[in-house]
Amino acid sequence: MNFSEDFMNELRYKNPVEEVISSYVVLKKAGSTYKGLCPFHNERTPSFTVYPNTNSFYCFGCQNGGDVVTFIKNIENLDYVEAVRFLADRAGMAMPESGYDDSVEKLRRTVLAINRETAKFYFECLIQKEDGGIGLKYFSGRKLSAETIKKFGLGYAPDSFDKLKNHLRSKGFSESDMILANVCSKSQKTGRAYDRFRKKVMFPIFDLRGNVIAFGGRKFPEDEGAKYINSSDTPVFKKSKNLYGLNLAKNSGEKTVILTEGYMDTIALHQAGFNNAVGALGTSFTADQANLLSRYFDEIVVTMDIDEAGQKATKRAIEILKTTGIKIRILQVEGGKDPDEYIKEFGANRFRMLLEGAKNDIEFKLLGAKNKFDIETDDGKLNYLNASIEVLASVNDEIARNLYASRVSGETGVEKSVILNRVQRMRKSNEKKALKKELTEFTRPKYSPNDVNPDAKKYRRAAYAEENILAVLMQYPQYAKYVFEKLSGDDFLTSFNKDLYLKLQEILVAGKEFEISYLSESYDSKQLGRVMEINSKFSFSNDIEQVIDDCIKVIFDEKDKLGIISPSNMNDDDFLNALNKQAKDKKGKH
Ligand code: UTP
Ligand code: MN
Repeated sequence: MNFSEDFMNELRYKNPVEEVISSYVVLKKAGSTYKGLCPFHNERTPSFTVYPNTNSFYCFGCQNGGDVVTFIKNIENLDYVEAVRFLADRAGMAMPESGYDDSVEKLRRTVLAINRETAKFYFECLIQKEDGGIGLKYFSGRKLSAETIKKFGLGYAPDSFDKLKNHLRSKGFSESDMILANVCSKSQKTGRAYDRFRKKVMFPIFDLRGNVIAFGGRKFPEDEGAKYINSSDTPVFKKSKNLYGLNLAKNSGEKTVILTEGYMDTIALHQAGFNNAVGALGTSFTADQANLLSRYFDEIVVTMDIDEAGQKATKRAIEILKTTGIKIRILQVEGGKDPDEYIKEFGANRFRMLLEGAKNDIEFKLLGAKNKFDIETDDGKLNYLNASIEVLASVNDEIARNLYASRVSGETGVEKSVILNRVQRMRKSNEKKALKKELTEFTRPKYSPNDVNPDAKKYRRAAYAEENILAVLMQYPQYAKYVFEKLSGDDFLTSFNKDLYLKLQEILVAGKEFEISYLSESYDSKQLGRVMEINSKFSFSNDIEQVIDDCIKVIFDEKDKLGIISPSNMNDDDFLNALNKQAKDKKGKH
């Protein structure tokens, strides 16, 4: 246990869960609970629920749950102790002086300090014209102003295996921490640290609070190897959860965000006055990134390469973005250029015109379909019609459907009413399919495929019985003794349920009643969500002892079937047999 119970009680009392969450999520009262759109997954109808009575939250869509500390941990990307500190600050409470394990927090602070020092070092190397000033030459070749370089904290990593390392050591950092921060790599041969970025122009990546959390390094055109190398995930960085330049773009005052593919595109846009540009940090655009953007902006303009990979990436991004409710437009830069190249060649004004003419997602998809077929031929026309009917069927706004049906009608010469008729039919059939899917998802037992407790799939019946027992313990602590006398943790067949059982034992034996907060230090939001699901899945009528007995019987039956006998229930013969079997198994292995 990290913090005293008194401290945690005060912390929770002064940070009511609904109040804390409502500064991140728009909550609507629904009886004794609140509902809102889940900030942890994409959804259009609210399944995120806050329970003031039990100081907890749970999302029926993504099954994440927990208490107020869990929420802050997830949304602010903090570890447990940092989240507690965050809430203590929020409530004006002093943190306890000692008695808690802040090793994770300390580690993260060290990594952040190394990153900050490293960014400073690279910046100095750039400005001091290390290695003949090739870094500065490169950036000025790309038309970056001194102001831009400063604003983005750009730098130069010298052509050396130890200049950064030596610098960081002089500041008192250890080699193992440099490796952890991923600014140094570990030599396979000697086990020592060496500089990871060498002869590269450097792009520090900032989080929303202005911490340096990672780096991207670009090679010089004459050098071999990958164009960019980036920090891997570290204790302070998860690529899929961050966007390049969001720390600046979020303060642009714009309702629209421009999403680019790269570092240089983001920077060039800012320099040209588009302070609302962000970069996707390579790889594919993620749901976490989409959620993050929809928190700050109402509209997004996706600027992707016009090539096939770019088109595919754009389609994927549209599907991910669609579920956040953000307005989507797609900008395709002519001539296979990226925004950086385009602005350099044609200037900011022309880019602004492109921006204003950016197509919405329907136009983008229709155009994609049109380009795929030759609509001068009847065959091509038919294919285009079928593809566009599919696109139109996914449009929920009736006016927009009408508008684009007119356009397709004009392009193909097929009557609009005929097109709309087909669209309507397809919408009906899609609706039916969606309903059916929802229904099967609703009625299917939720406990089968489960990453929190994968054993449940193997031991379905036992897992179900175990969960009944766990729910009894959470709801009726007065039966704890009765259960504990008959069932030990080792009797459980599935590992998560066993672990939860042991934790509940600890809580209940200490004479406390179950609260989700007791688990929020050791479990993450998925595991806590699972606990809440188990707790709410079962309700019991009067004969609880009977339920307990039945469930215990099921658990032992299942164990018998598997030939597992718990030591506490063995008679002497069983015990000898088990011993013999163990001895044999061991022999077999050698
Ligand atoms: P691009 O290849 O389009 O490069 O990659 P770019 O952004 O136009 O770079 P410049 O203008 O030549 O300097 C797009 C993004 O993909 C990631 C980077 O984030 C890059 O900005 N990327 C690309 C990598 O991480 N590694 C690579 O080797 C290449
Ligand atoms: Mn480029």
